[in-house]
Amino acid sequence: MNFVAALNDTAAKNLQVLEENIKQSIAEDPFVFEACAPLIRGGKRLRPMLFLLCANAKKDLPPEKTMPLATALELIHTASLVHDDIIDTSKKRRGVETANSKYGAQIAVLVGDYLFAKAFQLVAENNYDSQVQLILSNLVKNLCVGEIMQDRSLFAVPTMSEYYTHINLKTAIFLSSCCRLGAIAAEMNSREIENLTAYGSGLGLAFQIIDDLLDFFGDERITGKPHGGDLKSGVITLPVIRALEISDAAQTLKKIVTRGEITKTEIDAAIKIIRATDAVDYCRTRAEAHIESARVNLPATLKISIALALEKIADFVVDRTR
Ligand code: FPP
Ligand code: MG
Repeated sequence: MNFVAALNDTAAKNLQVLEENIKQSIAEDPFVFEACAPLIRGGKRLRPMLFLLCANAKKDLPPEKTMPLATALELIHTASLVHDDIIDTSKKRRGVETANSKYGAQIAVLVGDYLFAKAFQLVAENNYDSQVQLILSNLVKNLCVGEIMQDRSLFAVPTMSEYYTHINLKTAIFLSSCCRLGAIAAEMNSREIENLTAYGSGLGLAFQIIDDLLDFFGDERITGKPHGGDLKSGVITLPVIRALEISDAAQTLKKIVTRGEITKTEIDAAIKIIRATDAVDYCRTRAEAHIESARVNLPATLKISIALALEKIADFVVDRTR
C-alpha cells in the first residue's frame, strides 16, 4: 500500500482522485501511456500529497482547484526521473525497465519532454496564476542546475558543502515548493508560508540523504534498483564522503570511486569499506536532524489531522525502505 493512503481518510480519498487524474493526464497518446504508465504506477506521490495536505490544511478546497496542480507536480517529477535515467543510463527504476533501456535514449528524451509539457498544459488550462508559474519554473530550473552541477563533477569527491548544494537543488527545493504552493492555495499568512516551506526543505534534505543511503544499503527488491547505482554513474554521495573522512581504507575507497569506471566487485568492496565506518549512523543522524528542523517548522495553526499527517510523513522519510 502507498504510505500516503495510511495517513487519514481525507488524504486517502484525495490520493484516489489524484491517481485517476494522473492516469487521465497521460492517456491522450497511446505510446506515451505505454512508455510511462509502469513507471508512474510505482511512485509514492510524495510531492503532490505534500501540496494537497498543505492546500487543505485550513479548510477542504474543491478538488478542481487543487488536483490539476497536484497532477502537474507528479508529472514534472516523473519527467525528471525519465531524463535522469537517460543521463545515468539506468536500466531499472521502481522495479521496472526504464524508458531509455526499453526504447532508447532518443525516444525517452521525448517521453520526458511530453510529460513536462503536459504538466504545463494543466497549469495553463486551469488558470493558475503567475506566482504559481514562477514557483514551478524556479523549481525546474533548480532541478536542472543541481543535475548539471552534479554531472560536471562526476567521479570527483564533492566537499560536504557541495554535496548539500546538490541535494538542495535536486530535491529539497522541489519538496519545499510543493508545500509552499499548498500554503499559498490555502491563503495562509506569510509566516505560515515560510514555515511550511522550511518544513518541506528539511524534509527534502533528509529524503535525499536517506535515498543516498538506500542506494548502497537498501533491499534491491524493495527499492527496485540495483545497489551502487550512484557510484556506477560517478555520483559520490554522503556515505562515501563520510567514509573518506574517517576510514583507514580511505585511499583504496578514493581510488575505486574516482577511477571513472567501476566493476561490481569494486562496488562490493566500496560498500564493505563504508559499512566498516560510522557512515550509516552518521547519515541517519544528519537526516534525523533535518527531520527535526522540518518538524519544528510545522505551524501550530494547521488542522490537527493535517498536522498529524505531515508529522507522519516526516517519520516516514527517515524510516522508509524505498
Ligand atoms: C533523481 O535523483 C533525479 C532528480 C532528483 C532530478 C533529475 C533532474 C533532471 C534530470 C533535470 C530536470 C528535467 C526535467 C524534464 C524537469 P537521484 O539521481 O539522486 O536518485 P535516483 O537514485 O532515484 O536516480
Ligand atoms: Mg539518478
